[in-house]
Amino acid sequence: MDVMRIEGGNPLRGSIPISGSKNAALPALAATLLTEEPCILENVPDLSDIRFMGKILHYLGAEVEQTEATTWKITAANVAPRAPYELVRKMRASVCLMGPLAGRLKRSEVSLPGGCVIGPRPIDMHLKGFAGLGMGINIENGYVQLEASRARGNHIFLGGRHGSTVTGTANVLMAAVLTPGKTLIECAACEPEIVDLCYMLKTMGADIEGIGSPILIVRGVDKLHGCTFKILPDRIEAGTYLIAGAMAAEKLTLQNMRVADQAALIDKLREAEVSIEIDSPTCITVRKSSSPLRPVDVVTHPHPGFPTDLQAQMSSLLSVTPGLSIVTEKVFPNRFMHVPELQRMGADIAIEGPNAIIKGKTSLSGAPVMASDLRASAALILAGLVAEGVTWVLRIYHLDRGYDDIEGKLKAVGAIMNRLPESEMPKELNPQAA
Ligand code: EPU
Repeated sequence: MDVMRIEGGNPLRGSIPISGSKNAALPALAATLLTEEPCILENVPDLSDIRFMGKILHYLGAEVEQTEATTWKITAANVAPRAPYELVRKMRASVCLMGPLAGRLKRSEVSLPGGCVIGPRPIDMHLKGFAGLGMGINIENGYVQLEASRARGNHIFLGGRHGSTVTGTANVLMAAVLTPGKTLIECAACEPEIVDLCYMLKTMGADIEGIGSPILIVRGVDKLHGCTFKILPDRIEAGTYLIAGAMAAEKLTLQNMRVADQAALIDKLREAEVSIEIDSPTCITVRKSSSPLRPVDVVTHPHPGFPTDLQAQMSSLLSVTPGLSIVTEKVFPNRFMHVPELQRMGADIAIEGPNAIIKGKTSLSGAPVMASDLRASAALILAGLVAEGVTWVLRIYHLDRGYDDIEGKLKAVGAIMNRLPESEMPKELNPQAA
Protein backbone atom coordinates (compact mmCIF):
# COMPACT_ATOMS: atom_id res chain seq x y z
CA MET A 1 0.00 0.00 0.00
CA ASP A 2 1.15 3.54 -0.74
CA VAL A 3 1.24 6.52 1.59
CA MET A 4 1.31 10.24 0.75
CA ARG A 5 4.01 12.38 2.30
CA ILE A 6 3.14 16.10 2.32
CA GLU A 7 5.34 18.99 3.35
CA GLY A 8 3.01 21.74 4.47
CA GLY A 9 3.25 25.47 3.97
CA ASN A 10 3.92 25.81 0.25
CA PRO A 11 1.71 28.25 -1.60
CA LEU A 12 -0.24 26.95 -4.58
CA ARG A 13 0.02 28.89 -7.83
CA GLY A 14 -0.96 27.94 -11.35
CA SER A 15 -3.90 26.14 -12.85
CA ILE A 16 -5.55 22.76 -12.40
CA PRO A 17 -7.70 21.14 -15.10
CA ILE A 18 -10.81 19.43 -13.73
CA SER A 19 -11.53 15.87 -14.89
CA GLY A 20 -14.85 14.26 -15.75
CA SER A 21 -17.22 13.44 -12.90
CA LYS A 22 -16.90 10.09 -11.14
CA ASN A 23 -20.48 10.11 -9.94
CA ALA A 24 -21.79 10.94 -13.42
CA ALA A 25 -19.51 8.48 -15.23
CA LEU A 26 -20.50 5.51 -13.02
CA PRO A 27 -24.25 5.56 -13.84
CA ALA A 28 -23.41 6.52 -17.46
CA LEU A 29 -21.32 3.34 -17.73
CA ALA A 30 -24.20 1.36 -16.23
CA ALA A 31 -26.60 2.98 -18.73
CA THR A 32 -24.62 1.52 -21.64
CA LEU A 33 -26.22 -1.82 -20.64
CA LEU A 34 -29.58 -0.45 -21.86
CA THR A 35 -28.68 -0.92 -25.53
CA GLU A 36 -27.02 -3.53 -27.69
CA GLU A 37 -25.44 -0.74 -29.77
CA PRO A 38 -22.04 0.84 -28.99
CA CYS A 39 -21.95 3.81 -26.61
CA ILE A 40 -18.98 6.16 -26.60
CA LEU A 41 -18.37 8.07 -23.39
CA GLU A 42 -15.96 11.02 -23.44
CA ASN A 43 -14.31 12.91 -20.56
CA VAL A 44 -14.25 9.75 -18.42
CA PRO A 45 -11.91 10.27 -15.44
CA ASP A 46 -9.00 7.91 -14.77
CA LEU A 47 -10.07 6.43 -11.42
CA SER A 48 -10.03 3.03 -9.80
CA ASP A 49 -13.84 3.10 -9.34
CA ILE A 50 -14.27 3.69 -13.09
CA ARG A 51 -11.87 0.90 -14.03
CA PHE A 52 -13.75 -1.26 -11.62
CA MET A 53 -17.11 -0.52 -13.22
CA GLY A 54 -15.46 -1.36 -16.58
CA LYS A 55 -14.46 -4.76 -15.15
CA ILE A 56 -18.01 -5.45 -13.98
CA LEU A 57 -19.46 -4.52 -17.41
CA HIS A 58 -16.90 -6.84 -19.03
CA TYR A 59 -17.85 -9.62 -16.58
CA LEU A 60 -21.51 -9.11 -17.53
CA GLY A 61 -20.58 -9.69 -21.19
CA ALA A 62 -20.06 -6.18 -22.58
CA GLU A 63 -17.10 -5.30 -24.81
CA VAL A 64 -15.24 -2.56 -22.98
CA GLU A 65 -12.55 -0.58 -24.77
CA GLN A 66 -10.67 2.49 -23.63
CA THR A 67 -10.14 4.03 -27.06
CA GLU A 68 -8.32 7.13 -25.76
CA ALA A 69 -7.13 8.30 -22.34
CA THR A 70 -10.58 9.68 -21.44
CA THR A 71 -12.80 7.92 -23.99
CA TRP A 72 -14.49 4.58 -23.43
CA LYS A 73 -16.47 2.54 -25.93
CA ILE A 74 -18.91 -0.01 -24.50
CA THR A 75 -20.86 -2.45 -26.59
CA ALA A 76 -23.29 -4.48 -24.53
CA ALA A 77 -24.63 -6.67 -27.36
CA ASN A 78 -25.08 -9.62 -25.02
CA VAL A 79 -25.29 -9.24 -21.27
CA ALA A 80 -25.93 -11.54 -18.35
CA PRO A 81 -28.22 -10.43 -15.50
CA ARG A 82 -26.04 -11.43 -12.53
CA ALA A 83 -23.40 -9.23 -10.81
CA PRO A 84 -21.68 -11.27 -8.09
CA TYR A 85 -20.65 -10.26 -4.58
CA GLU A 86 -16.90 -10.65 -5.31
CA LEU A 87 -17.20 -7.69 -7.71
CA VAL A 88 -20.01 -5.63 -6.21
CA ARG A 89 -18.64 -5.50 -2.66
CA LYS A 90 -15.63 -3.50 -3.84
CA MET A 91 -17.74 -0.61 -5.08
CA ARG A 92 -21.06 0.48 -3.66
CA ALA A 93 -22.07 2.29 -6.84
CA SER A 94 -22.52 -1.10 -8.52
CA VAL A 95 -26.06 -1.09 -7.10
CA CYS A 96 -26.91 1.17 -10.05
CA LEU A 97 -26.59 -1.87 -12.34
CA MET A 98 -29.95 -3.15 -11.03
CA GLY A 99 -32.11 -0.66 -12.93
CA PRO A 100 -30.54 -0.98 -16.40
CA LEU A 101 -30.29 -4.79 -16.18
CA ALA A 102 -33.94 -5.11 -15.10
CA GLY A 103 -34.99 -2.56 -17.77
CA ARG A 104 -33.20 -4.32 -20.62
CA LEU A 105 -33.30 -8.01 -19.64
CA LYS A 106 -36.49 -7.88 -17.53
CA ARG A 107 -34.62 -9.54 -14.70
CA SER A 108 -31.49 -8.91 -12.70
CA GLU A 109 -29.59 -10.41 -9.81
CA VAL A 110 -27.14 -8.01 -8.20
CA SER A 111 -25.39 -8.61 -4.91
CA LEU A 112 -25.97 -6.20 -2.04
CA PRO A 113 -22.74 -4.25 -1.59
CA GLY A 114 -22.25 -4.48 2.19
CA GLY A 115 -21.06 -1.90 4.71
CA CYS A 116 -19.75 1.59 4.17
CA VAL A 117 -17.69 3.73 6.57
CA ILE A 118 -19.67 6.91 5.93
CA GLY A 119 -22.66 5.35 7.67
CA PRO A 120 -25.61 3.07 6.94
CA ARG A 121 -26.45 3.13 3.25
CA PRO A 122 -29.74 1.28 2.79
CA ILE A 123 -31.31 0.75 -0.63
CA ASP A 124 -34.91 0.59 0.57
CA MET A 125 -35.91 3.54 -1.65
CA HIS A 126 -34.40 1.87 -4.74
CA LEU A 127 -36.47 -1.22 -3.96
CA LYS A 128 -39.60 0.86 -3.29
CA GLY A 129 -39.13 2.38 -6.76
CA PHE A 130 -38.72 -1.03 -8.42
CA ALA A 131 -41.76 -2.35 -6.54
CA GLY A 132 -43.71 0.73 -7.70
CA LEU A 133 -42.91 -0.24 -11.28
CA GLY A 134 -44.49 -3.61 -10.55
CA MET A 135 -41.30 -5.67 -10.40
CA GLY A 136 -41.08 -8.79 -8.31
CA ILE A 137 -38.36 -8.39 -5.66
CA ASN A 138 -36.67 -11.19 -3.82
CA ILE A 139 -33.65 -10.87 -1.53
CA GLU A 140 -31.86 -14.18 -1.26
CA ASN A 141 -28.34 -15.12 -0.20
CA GLY A 142 -27.28 -11.47 -0.22
CA TYR A 143 -28.59 -10.86 -3.74
CA VAL A 144 -31.45 -8.63 -4.91
CA GLN A 145 -33.38 -10.47 -7.60
CA LEU A 146 -35.68 -8.36 -9.76
CA GLU A 147 -38.33 -9.84 -12.06
CA ALA A 148 -39.58 -7.15 -14.42
CA SER A 149 -41.53 -8.98 -17.12
CA ARG A 150 -44.82 -7.44 -15.93
CA ALA A 151 -43.40 -4.03 -15.00
CA ARG A 152 -45.49 -0.97 -15.96
CA GLY A 153 -45.06 2.78 -15.54
CA ASN A 154 -46.40 4.23 -12.31
CA HIS A 155 -46.23 7.18 -9.89
CA ILE A 156 -43.17 6.72 -7.67
CA PHE A 157 -42.19 8.89 -4.71
CA LEU A 158 -38.48 8.79 -3.82
CA GLY A 159 -38.28 11.14 -0.83
CA GLY A 160 -36.66 9.80 2.34
CA ARG A 161 -35.50 11.03 5.75
CA HIS A 162 -32.40 12.59 4.27
CA GLY A 163 -33.91 13.85 1.04
CA SER A 164 -34.05 12.01 -2.23
CA THR A 165 -31.63 9.30 -3.28
CA VAL A 166 -29.11 9.96 -6.04
CA THR A 167 -28.30 6.39 -7.07
CA GLY A 168 -31.89 5.35 -6.35
CA THR A 169 -33.16 7.98 -8.80
CA ALA A 170 -30.62 6.79 -11.39
CA ASN A 171 -31.71 3.19 -10.86
CA VAL A 172 -35.46 3.78 -11.16
CA LEU A 173 -34.93 6.12 -14.13
CA MET A 174 -32.79 3.58 -16.00
CA ALA A 175 -35.42 0.89 -15.44
CA ALA A 176 -38.31 3.20 -16.37
CA VAL A 177 -36.93 4.26 -19.77
CA LEU A 178 -37.51 0.71 -21.06
CA THR A 179 -40.66 0.00 -19.03
CA PRO A 180 -43.98 0.31 -20.90
CA GLY A 181 -46.21 3.20 -19.90
CA LYS A 182 -45.69 6.51 -18.13
CA THR A 183 -43.59 6.72 -14.96
CA LEU A 184 -43.67 9.84 -12.80
CA ILE A 185 -40.75 9.98 -10.38
CA GLU A 186 -41.55 12.47 -7.65
CA CYS A 187 -38.87 13.79 -5.27
CA ALA A 188 -36.27 12.73 -7.81
CA ALA A 189 -32.68 13.74 -7.00
CA CYS A 190 -31.73 16.97 -8.82
CA GLU A 191 -27.96 16.48 -8.63
CA PRO A 192 -26.10 17.56 -11.80
CA GLU A 193 -25.01 13.92 -12.22
CA ILE A 194 -28.69 12.88 -12.53
CA VAL A 195 -29.31 15.68 -15.04
CA ASP A 196 -26.30 14.41 -17.02
CA LEU A 197 -27.69 10.87 -16.96
CA CYS A 198 -31.08 12.12 -18.20
CA TYR A 199 -29.39 13.86 -21.15
CA MET A 200 -27.39 10.75 -21.98
CA LEU A 201 -30.57 8.62 -21.89
CA LYS A 202 -32.33 11.15 -24.14
CA THR A 203 -29.41 10.94 -26.59
CA MET A 204 -30.06 7.18 -26.59
CA GLY A 205 -33.73 7.74 -27.50
CA ALA A 206 -35.38 7.84 -24.06
CA ASP A 207 -38.45 10.02 -23.51
CA ILE A 208 -37.88 12.06 -20.32
CA GLU A 209 -39.44 15.37 -19.26
CA GLY A 210 -38.76 17.59 -16.26
CA ILE A 211 -34.98 17.14 -16.39
CA GLY A 212 -33.29 18.98 -13.51
CA SER A 213 -36.52 19.21 -11.51
CA PRO A 214 -37.72 16.91 -8.69
CA ILE A 215 -40.47 15.55 -10.97
CA LEU A 216 -39.30 13.39 -13.85
CA ILE A 217 -41.82 12.06 -16.34
CA VAL A 218 -40.62 9.05 -18.30
CA ARG A 219 -42.51 7.39 -21.13
CA GLY A 220 -41.10 3.93 -21.73
CA VAL A 221 -39.79 3.10 -25.22
CA ASP A 222 -39.20 -0.35 -26.76
CA LYS A 223 -35.54 0.10 -27.50
CA LEU A 224 -32.68 2.50 -26.95
CA HIS A 225 -29.80 3.06 -29.36
CA GLY A 226 -26.10 3.82 -28.99
CA CYS A 227 -24.74 7.31 -28.36
CA THR A 228 -21.70 9.50 -28.01
CA PHE A 229 -21.86 11.44 -24.78
CA LYS A 230 -19.46 13.73 -22.91
CA ILE A 231 -19.45 13.38 -19.11
CA LEU A 232 -19.77 16.64 -17.16
CA PRO A 233 -16.83 18.00 -15.10
CA ASP A 234 -16.45 16.69 -11.56
CA ARG A 235 -17.99 19.29 -9.24
CA ILE A 236 -16.59 17.60 -6.13
CA GLU A 237 -13.05 17.50 -7.51
CA ALA A 238 -13.40 21.19 -8.49
CA GLY A 239 -14.87 22.03 -5.07
CA THR A 240 -12.01 20.23 -3.32
CA TYR A 241 -9.43 22.32 -5.21
CA LEU A 242 -11.43 25.50 -4.60
CA ILE A 243 -11.21 24.80 -0.87
CA ALA A 244 -7.50 23.94 -1.25
CA GLY A 245 -7.07 27.33 -2.94
CA ALA A 246 -8.90 29.10 -0.12
CA MET A 247 -6.48 27.45 2.32
CA ALA A 248 -3.21 27.71 0.47
CA ALA A 249 -3.28 29.54 -2.87
CA GLU A 250 -1.31 32.56 -3.91
CA LYS A 251 -3.40 32.30 -7.08
CA LEU A 252 -5.05 29.08 -8.23
CA THR A 253 -7.14 28.82 -11.38
CA LEU A 254 -9.45 25.88 -11.99
CA GLN A 255 -10.17 25.11 -15.62
CA ASN A 256 -12.66 22.90 -17.50
CA MET A 257 -15.05 23.05 -14.57
CA ARG A 258 -18.72 24.05 -14.47
CA VAL A 259 -19.07 27.12 -12.27
CA ALA A 260 -22.88 26.81 -12.28
CA ASP A 261 -22.62 23.62 -10.18
CA GLN A 262 -20.69 25.37 -7.36
CA ALA A 263 -23.24 27.94 -6.16
CA ALA A 264 -23.52 26.62 -2.58
CA LEU A 265 -19.76 26.32 -2.11
CA ILE A 266 -18.97 29.71 -3.67
CA ASP A 267 -21.62 31.30 -1.47
CA LYS A 268 -20.05 29.82 1.70
CA LEU A 269 -16.50 30.63 0.67
CA ARG A 270 -17.47 34.24 -0.07
CA GLU A 271 -19.24 34.43 3.31
CA ALA A 272 -15.93 33.35 4.83
CA GLU A 273 -14.30 36.19 2.81
CA VAL A 274 -12.34 34.00 0.43
CA SER A 275 -11.36 35.86 -2.74
CA ILE A 276 -13.01 34.14 -5.72
CA GLU A 277 -13.14 35.45 -9.27
CA ILE A 278 -15.39 33.82 -11.81
CA ASP A 279 -13.37 34.12 -15.01
CA SER A 280 -15.87 32.35 -17.27
CA PRO A 281 -18.59 29.68 -16.96
CA THR A 282 -15.81 27.05 -16.91
CA CYS A 283 -13.03 28.79 -15.00
CA ILE A 284 -12.54 30.21 -11.49
CA THR A 285 -9.57 31.81 -9.75
CA VAL A 286 -9.20 31.58 -5.98
CA ARG A 287 -6.67 33.17 -3.63
CA LYS A 288 -5.89 32.69 0.04
CA SER A 289 -6.83 35.89 1.78
CA SER A 290 -4.01 37.87 3.44
CA SER A 291 -6.21 38.46 6.49
CA PRO A 292 -7.78 35.58 8.47
CA LEU A 293 -11.00 34.17 7.05
CA ARG A 294 -14.29 34.43 8.94
CA PRO A 295 -15.83 31.33 10.54
CA VAL A 296 -19.06 30.12 8.91
CA ASP A 297 -21.78 27.57 9.62
CA VAL A 298 -22.35 24.93 6.97
CA VAL A 299 -25.29 22.55 6.61
CA THR A 300 -25.16 19.82 3.99
CA HIS A 301 -28.26 19.13 1.89
CA PRO A 302 -29.11 17.41 -1.36
CA HIS A 303 -28.40 19.56 -4.45
CA PRO A 304 -28.60 22.54 -4.79
CA GLY A 305 -27.59 22.69 -1.11
CA PHE A 306 -24.05 22.37 0.19
CA PRO A 307 -22.81 18.90 -0.90
CA THR A 308 -22.03 16.27 1.70
CA ASP A 309 -19.11 15.25 -0.51
CA LEU A 310 -17.39 18.58 0.35
CA GLN A 311 -18.18 18.54 4.07
CA ALA A 312 -14.90 16.93 5.16
CA GLN A 313 -12.78 19.26 3.01
CA MET A 314 -14.71 22.31 4.31
CA SER A 315 -14.07 21.08 7.85
CA SER A 316 -10.33 21.18 7.14
CA LEU A 317 -10.62 24.78 5.97
CA LEU A 318 -12.66 25.76 9.04
CA SER A 319 -10.11 24.04 11.32
CA VAL A 320 -7.64 26.75 10.26
CA THR A 321 -10.16 29.60 10.26
CA PRO A 322 -10.00 31.27 13.70
CA GLY A 323 -13.38 31.41 15.45
CA LEU A 324 -16.32 29.08 15.95
CA SER A 325 -17.88 27.26 12.99
CA ILE A 326 -20.58 24.59 13.07
CA VAL A 327 -20.83 22.00 10.33
CA THR A 328 -24.09 20.05 10.25
CA GLU A 329 -24.28 16.86 8.19
CA LYS A 330 -27.86 16.22 7.07
CA VAL A 331 -27.27 13.68 4.31
CA PHE A 332 -25.02 11.12 6.06
CA PRO A 333 -25.29 12.16 9.75
CA ASN A 334 -22.34 9.93 10.79
CA ARG A 335 -19.93 11.11 8.12
CA PHE A 336 -17.22 12.40 10.46
CA MET A 337 -14.46 9.81 10.04
CA HIS A 338 -12.01 12.58 9.15
CA VAL A 339 -12.49 14.33 12.50
CA PRO A 340 -10.32 12.12 14.77
CA GLU A 341 -7.54 12.34 12.16
CA LEU A 342 -7.80 16.15 11.93
CA GLN A 343 -7.69 16.18 15.74
CA ARG A 344 -4.37 14.33 15.51
CA MET A 345 -3.12 17.32 13.53
CA GLY A 346 -4.25 19.67 16.30
CA ALA A 347 -7.73 20.61 15.06
CA ASP A 348 -10.21 21.49 17.81
CA ILE A 349 -13.43 19.76 16.75
CA ALA A 350 -16.19 18.29 18.91
CA ILE A 351 -18.88 16.06 17.46
CA GLU A 352 -22.40 16.47 18.86
CA GLY A 353 -24.79 14.24 16.92
CA PRO A 354 -24.78 15.41 13.28
CA ASN A 355 -22.85 18.59 14.19
CA ALA A 356 -19.12 19.21 14.17
CA ILE A 357 -18.29 22.18 16.37
CA ILE A 358 -15.02 23.56 15.10
CA LYS A 359 -12.93 26.03 17.06
CA GLY A 360 -10.65 27.19 14.30
CA LYS A 361 -6.96 27.73 14.96
CA THR A 362 -4.28 29.63 13.11
CA SER A 363 -2.35 26.45 12.26
CA LEU A 364 -2.28 22.65 12.32
CA SER A 365 0.76 20.45 12.74
CA GLY A 366 1.81 17.59 10.47
CA ALA A 367 1.18 14.05 11.73
CA PRO A 368 0.68 10.52 10.41
CA VAL A 369 -3.05 10.17 9.70
CA MET A 370 -5.27 7.45 8.32
CA ALA A 371 -7.58 7.90 5.34
CA SER A 372 -10.94 6.17 5.87
CA ASP A 373 -12.95 7.06 2.78
CA LEU A 374 -12.61 9.11 -0.34
CA ARG A 375 -13.62 12.56 0.84
CA ALA A 376 -12.04 12.12 4.30
CA SER A 377 -8.77 11.39 2.47
CA ALA A 378 -9.08 14.61 0.48
CA ALA A 379 -9.72 16.54 3.70
CA LEU A 380 -6.48 15.16 5.17
CA ILE A 381 -4.49 16.07 2.07
CA LEU A 382 -5.80 19.66 2.29
CA ALA A 383 -4.93 19.82 6.00
CA GLY A 384 -1.46 18.47 5.17
CA LEU A 385 -0.91 21.24 2.59
CA VAL A 386 -1.18 23.94 5.27
CA ALA A 387 0.10 22.10 8.36
CA GLU A 388 3.47 22.91 9.87
CA GLY A 389 5.90 20.08 9.13
CA VAL A 390 5.26 16.76 7.45
CA THR A 391 1.94 14.90 7.19
CA TRP A 392 1.79 11.24 6.20
CA VAL A 393 -1.57 10.07 4.87
CA LEU A 394 -1.97 6.29 5.04
CA ARG A 395 -4.42 4.16 3.01
CA ILE A 396 -4.50 6.59 0.10
CA TYR A 397 -6.03 3.96 -2.16
CA HIS A 398 -9.29 5.65 -1.15
CA LEU A 399 -8.12 8.79 -2.98
CA ASP A 400 -7.48 6.88 -6.20
CA ARG A 401 -11.15 5.89 -6.25
CA GLY A 402 -12.25 9.46 -6.87
CA TYR A 403 -9.46 11.97 -7.58
CA ASP A 404 -7.87 11.78 -11.01
CA ASP A 405 -4.10 12.25 -10.48
CA ILE A 406 -4.45 14.36 -7.34
CA GLU A 407 -0.72 14.11 -6.68
CA GLY A 408 0.25 15.27 -10.20
CA LYS A 409 -2.32 18.07 -10.23
CA LEU A 410 -1.31 19.49 -6.83
CA LYS A 411 2.42 19.09 -7.47
CA ALA A 412 2.06 21.00 -10.74
CA VAL A 413 0.82 24.02 -8.75
CA GLY A 414 3.55 23.89 -6.13
CA ALA A 415 2.50 21.37 -3.49
CA ILE A 416 5.34 19.32 -2.07
CA MET A 417 3.92 15.83 -1.83
CA ASN A 418 4.99 12.37 -2.84
CA ARG A 419 3.36 9.00 -3.05
CA LEU A 420 5.66 6.39 -1.53
CA PRO A 421 5.43 2.70 -0.74
CA GLU A 422 4.47 2.31 2.91
CA SER A 423 7.83 0.58 3.50
CA GLU A 424 9.56 3.94 2.95
CA MET A 425 7.66 5.59 5.78
CA PRO A 426 9.69 5.80 9.01
CA LYS A 427 8.58 2.82 11.11
CA GLU A 428 8.25 4.88 14.29
CA LEU A 429 5.62 7.05 12.53
CA ASN A 430 3.58 4.22 11.05
CA PRO A 431 0.69 3.17 13.30
CA GLN A 432 0.26 0.06 11.13
CA ALA A 433 3.86 -1.11 11.50
CA ALA A 434 3.63 -2.24 15.13
N1 EPU B 1 -30.95 6.50 1.65
C1 EPU B 1 -31.92 5.71 2.23
N2 EPU B 1 -32.48 4.71 1.48
C2 EPU B 1 -32.10 4.48 0.20
C3 EPU B 1 -31.11 5.28 -0.37
C4 EPU B 1 -30.53 6.28 0.37
O1 EPU B 1 -32.28 5.90 3.36
O2 EPU B 1 -32.66 3.57 -0.43
C5 EPU B 1 -30.34 7.57 2.43
C6 EPU B 1 -28.85 7.41 2.61
O3 EPU B 1 -28.53 6.56 3.69
C7 EPU B 1 -28.40 8.83 2.81
C8 EPU B 1 -29.34 9.62 1.89
O4 EPU B 1 -30.47 8.77 1.69
O5 EPU B 1 -28.62 9.22 4.13
C9 EPU B 1 -28.75 9.99 0.54
O6 EPU B 1 -28.21 8.83 -0.08
P1 EPU B 1 -28.10 8.67 -1.67
O7 EPU B 1 -28.82 7.44 -2.06
O8 EPU B 1 -28.49 9.95 -2.33
O9 EPU B 1 -26.54 8.43 -1.85
P2 EPU B 1 -25.89 7.50 -2.95
O10 EPU B 1 -26.68 7.59 -4.19
O11 EPU B 1 -25.64 6.17 -2.37
C10 EPU B 1 -24.40 9.32 -4.04
C11 EPU B 1 -22.93 9.50 -4.29
C12 EPU B 1 -22.22 9.79 -2.98
C13 EPU B 1 -22.85 11.07 -2.37
C14 EPU B 1 -24.36 10.87 -2.20
C15 EPU B 1 -25.06 12.11 -1.71
C16 EPU B 1 -22.50 8.11 -6.19
C17 EPU B 1 -21.86 6.89 -6.74
N3 EPU B 1 -22.39 8.29 -4.88
O12 EPU B 1 -24.50 8.21 -3.16
O13 EPU B 1 -20.86 10.05 -3.31
O14 EPU B 1 -22.27 11.32 -1.13
O15 EPU B 1 -24.95 10.50 -3.47
O16 EPU B 1 -24.85 13.17 -2.57
O17 EPU B 1 -23.06 8.90 -6.92
C18 EPU B 1 -18.55 10.06 -2.97
O18 EPU B 1 -18.42 10.34 -4.17
O19 EPU B 1 -17.59 10.12 -2.15
C19 EPU B 1 -19.85 9.64 -2.47
C20 EPU B 1 -20.02 9.00 -1.32
